Amino acid sequence: MSKRKRPCAACAGCGYADPEPHDPRYEPSPRRFCAACAGTGWDYRTPAKVRMSDATAARVLAGMAEAEARPTERDGAVAGLPADGLGCAAVGETPPWYRVWFDSPYYGILYGDRDQAEADAFIRRLARTLRAQPPAAALDVACGTGRHAVVLADLGYDVLGIDLSAPSIAAARRRARPNLRFQVLDMRAIEWRERFDAALNLFTSFGYFGAEDDERRVLAGIRRALRPGGELVIDFLNAARTVAELVPRERTERGGIAFDITRELADRTIVKTIEVDDPRRPAGHPRPRFQERVRALSAGTLRGYLQDAGLPVERCYGDYALNPFRPDVSDRLILVARKPER
Ligand SMILES: C[S@@+](CC[C@H](N)C(=O)[O-])C[C@H]1O[C@@H](n2cnc3c(N)ncnc32)[C@H](O)[C@@H]1O
Repeated sequence: MSKRKRPCAACAGCGYADPEPHDPRYEPSPRRFCAACAGTGWDYRTPAKVRMSDATAARVLAGMAEAEARPTERDGAVAGLPADGLGCAAVGETPPWYRVWFDSPYYGILYGDRDQAEADAFIRRLARTLRAQPPAAALDVACGTGRHAVVLADLGYDVLGIDLSAPSIAAARRRARPNLRFQVLDMRAIEWRERFDAALNLFTSFGYFGAEDDERRVLAGIRRALRPGGELVIDFLNAARTVAELVPRERTERGGIAFDITRELADRTIVKTIEVDDPRRPAGHPRPRFQERVRALSAGTLRGYLQDAGLPVERCYGDYALNPFRPDVSDRLILVARKPER
């Protein structure tokens, strides 16, 4: 592990030590925002009440523009990362899309309307079907701001939420309880042994890496972390339906900020490009541009990955009401797999 000092991409040059150990096996560069920029300027829960002051916004945008202007060693080298967007690191290396986008305040603004009520109802319904019952230990893999983890904790589970995004974990920690903790961790680096009775990976938090080995490493880590008989729930998009109904172009507005979104299927990956029209962007500054890239894994492929990982699928649902999965109509693909008893 290395702990290098990097300038913050937002306030450009304040200099900060990455608060979490950086694992160079998975990421070429450590996280790019200092705690001040990542944790305090934005309220991730209430996009309509974005708390970033105009002065902070100007500073962030100026920092982004400055970062974009700097030459990088690998401009354009990583497929999907735009050469003119925030995707170009300030530090001479191009971070992967999932680090750039999920760490960005715009992610919280675009998806801030994700429904806590829906998460609440889903988790309460799902928990009734799980073998592990409170106070069993549950791991929420890629927990985001903890909207599912908090419900599990309120049901009495002992919950750990992990996520790569420091800003999301900072927001999640505002919800911490004695039986609910959060930790910044790359899902490919899960190393616990037989510590959890259940693991969850929810709302399309899989298929990001473009490398099958990485996806399989995630599942192997989860299997190791589960106790014998423990279950993993993966809530993934229904690729068949998503691809069939892909909306190629859309403009949407949140909290006074417009998002131009394009979607395409490229190399069996659903690629969403997001360009941001922020009225606080100083004149002449380019529009921030991000990508989301999720492999269009079919139900069969995902089942196969789980089977290969030693986690055979036992149940398969098609939506948050837990109706049976049907490829042509289901909104979601929710697989429940189980680590065999010894
Ligand atoms: C679509 S969001 C879902 C978040 C949360 N499960 C929810 O439903 O609100 C995907 C999450 O995956 C996280 N993520 C992306 N790459 C990751 C990685 N390599 N390790 C851990 N988390 C990661 C992102 O930071 C983001 O919070």
